[in-house]
Order: sequence, then C-alpha cells, then structure tokens
Amino acid sequence: MSFDLVFFGGTGDLTWRKLMPALFQAFRHGKLPADGRILAVARDTQSDEQYRAWLRERFQDVDTPKRPTEEEFSRFAEMLFYRRMDLSQPQDYARLKEWLEERRADTVVLYLATSPYLFPVICEQLGRAGLNDPHIRVVLEKPLGHDLRSAQEINRVVRSVFTEQQAFRIDHYLGKPSVQNLMALRFGNVLFEPLWRRESIANIQITLAESIGVGTRGDFYDRTGALRDMIQNHALQLLTMIAMEPPASNDADAIRDEKLKVLRSLKPFAMESVLRDVVRGQYRAGAIDGKPVPGYLDEQKVPADSQTETFVALRTEVQNWRWAGVPFYLRTGKRLAARDAQIVVNFRPTPHNIFGGVSQPNKLVIKLQPEDGLELHLLAAKGALQHDLLSPVFLDLDFDKAFPTERVGAYERLLLDVIAGRLNLFVRSDEQEQAWRWVEPILQAWSLDTSGPRPYKAGSWGPPAASALVARDGFAWAEEQ
Ligand code: BG6
Repeated sequence: MSFDLVFFGGTGDLTWRKLMPALFQAFRHGKLPADGRILAVARDTQSDEQYRAWLRERFQDVDTPKRPTEEEFSRFAEMLFYRRMDLSQPQDYARLKEWLEERRADTVVLYLATSPYLFPVICEQLGRAGLNDPHIRVVLEKPLGHDLRSAQEINRVVRSVFTEQQAFRIDHYLGKPSVQNLMALRFGNVLFEPLWRRESIANIQITLAESIGVGTRGDFYDRTGALRDMIQNHALQLLTMIAMEPPASNDADAIRDEKLKVLRSLKPFAMESVLRDVVRGQYRAGAIDGKPVPGYLDEQKVPADSQTETFVALRTEVQNWRWAGVPFYLRTGKRLAARDAQIVVNFRPTPHNIFGGVSQPNKLVIKLQPEDGLELHLLAAKGALQHDLLSPVFLDLDFDKAFPTERVGAYERLLLDVIAGRLNLFVRSDEQEQAWRWVEPILQAWSLDTSGPRPYKAGSWGPPAASALVARDGFAWAEEQ
C-alpha cells in the first residue's frame, strides 16, 4: 500500500515533538508501509535537505525511546519532503495537488497540525482545490474549537468538504495502550462485566495529573484553561470508555454510538450545581521534586491578573439504569504532586463482614501513565496467627512486562490507524459537540462567578475543596485512601 502524509504546520511544536518522532518509531518498528512519502508544509522557505537537517537537530531534544542513529535517520529522511505554503493562497493548494498527483498514492493523509482557527480556511481551500477525493483523509488536532459554537462551525466546514468517514479527530489519550486495554478488559473478559454497574461500584475516579507547569505555552494555555484543555476531551473520552454499554461489534460507529449515549446521559450542569460540584484552582509557587517552581501568575506570557484555571475537579453522574447515583469524579491539573494518569474503580464494601478489623472495599486501578498497567486490590489472609484479620494485597499487571516488544506509543498507533483507515480510536463530530454542550454551563457559570479559581500550592494535589467534594459523599481520592 502506498501513502502520502502531509503535515500542515510542518515546523510547529506538535510536528517535531510528537508526530515526526512517532512516525520515526513506526518506521523503526517496520510498521510504516514502505511506499510512503511524508511532506511537511509551512510558511518558511527551505529545501528538502534543509528541512531534514533541521528535523535531525530537533530530534536531539525529543524523548523517543532510543535516539536514531545517523544511518537510521538518513533512511527515514529519504521519505521526507518539504514545501513552502501560504495557507490562504489557492495556487499553493494547486501546487500541493500536483505534488500529490505525481503518483496518486493509495491513501493521502492531510494532517492539520496547525492552530484550530486555521482549520476552516484550510478545509475550504482543500475543497476548492479538489483535494477531497475518497482516498484522502483529514486529521484534526485538538483543541477543536473553543466552545460549542466554534466547534460546530469547524465541523460544518469539515463536513462540507469531507465525509465523516474521511475525518479523523485526534484525542491522543485514545491511543494510549491502557485505554485500549480498558476495552479489552471490559469486553474481552467475562470477569468484570457483571460487576460493572451501580450494584457493585461505589464511585469512579479519573485523575489526569501533571507535575509540569504551562512552560512556554502560557499564552495558549491562558486562553484555554484546564477544563477545555483536558476535561472536555481527554477526561470525558475516558469516562465514555468506562461507562459505555457493550457495543455490538468492534466497528468504529458501533463504539462511537455507545460513547455518544454516555455523553448524552451525563447529568447536566446549571449555575448552582457548578458552584457545588466543580472546583477550579490555580497554582501558586511551590516545589516539585524538591525544586522550587513559580506560581502560574509568574509564568511567561501569563497576565498577572489571570483567572484561568490550571486545575479542575468535578463530580458528575451518568443518568441511566447502569450507573444511576454512582458519582464519577474527574480531576486534572498542572503542577500537581506527580505525573499520574489513572482511573480508579472503587467497589462497594462486602455486605457483611465476618472477619475482625476494618473491611476494605476492592478497587481496580487502571494506570495510564507513567506506568501502563492494572492493579486489582483485594483482601487476603496472611496466614499468621490472627487468622481473622485480613490484609490488603493487590494483583499487579504491568503491560510493559507482559508485552515487552509490542508496545506502541499513542501517536504512533493513531498515525498508523489513520493510514490504515481505522476510525475506532477517533472522535466523531457528534461526540465532540456533545462534550462541548456539557461543559458550556461550567464555562458560563465561571464567567459570572467573580470569586475566581482557588489557589493551590505547586506540588500539592490541588485546593482542599477538591478533597471536600469527594468527602461530602463519604469517599476519598485514591491518594487519600
Ligand atoms: C494535551 C494538553 O492535550 O495533553 C497538554 O494540551 C497536556 O496541556 C497533554 O500537557 C498531556 O498529555 P500526556 O500524554 O503527556 O498526558
């Protein structure tokens, strides 16, 4: 199979930090179809050779698992090309078309790794240039819009040029191996499904914690905030995977239909419930790994009076028969105590405790990063003299050890899926719009509530109100249990 892959935003951060290293990994693993060309387009004028040299240099700064050797990189670079393009100029799209038609590859992937405000312009121009034949796919990077209206506008333009089958909306969390394992765990095994419901589960917690700050992205981040950056997309996508009904098949639309139903069942927010059930925070100076770090307001390109949230914790419910009354807690933040992304399923206690001591409910921890695995927390008898006292133990499954040679990174996986035309791990427009519809009342309530985000110390787990949110229901976050 031959393919041509075009990166709009070919010199941007996303391209050199994530996309090119992921492609390189796929190439190194022998997974990239051999007959491929990769074209980077951007505003600067440079030759293919200059671009290759520039990328080679950039590769020194990225953490691909193993740095490419000269020989490996030059073999990879044979597939790499560069063209200057002004994205508003029709003649530049005509030139792109000529380049693509030089050989008419089986698949053409147009990856929009640009700022989202350019998506409508690029899609319109692609449509006018006739770059929307069925063998062409378009990939859209998040953030897809800033609110429901802007997301609908982007989708309207995308749909006027491409079919839904041609549109690949990336949420890189869906490419993480543990997220795919979540599907395997739920729908490839019988063990959990009978328990996966309100009768056995007390609450579910999704934590996407980062210890990094906003770095050099202060201007972007300040316009975005944690709710738009992490909750509207990554956290809600994880929630749909946890809460969805078993799909009838492993087909992209069978899965996406079920995910959409979950998003439609989420308890809607109103002003009062936002104030009660959503905690927003902003980090102040503190320490990470013993090293002092500045507060958000002192970060580069952040206004000194910014009210942007760098932390969100919220409580919601999935209002259907399976989940009625079960709290789902979502939490994300920058400059938290650890880089730790995990989903914790807290089961209910046993109905009657025949052993002495405190009974501790079972819990399943799905670890997304830094490790990639599963922990099942149980109680067991130690075999010691006090035979009626149980001790906590856990079964620990480390996927890196279980499948040492086959692990594939999120972007690598997703890029290969786009080339192969597999839509399962991509977000459909109706899912994405429904997610915006659900977060909008939170944004509206915050715009009216002048109290602003609550301060929290860098290196902590967020404002104390986040613990109170869970404690109110008689529960605690995983690290407090
Ligand atoms: C991105 C956000 O979508 O995800 C970033 O824009 C965030 O702010 C990143 O740092 C986290 O991704 P990961 O894979 O490092 O957890």
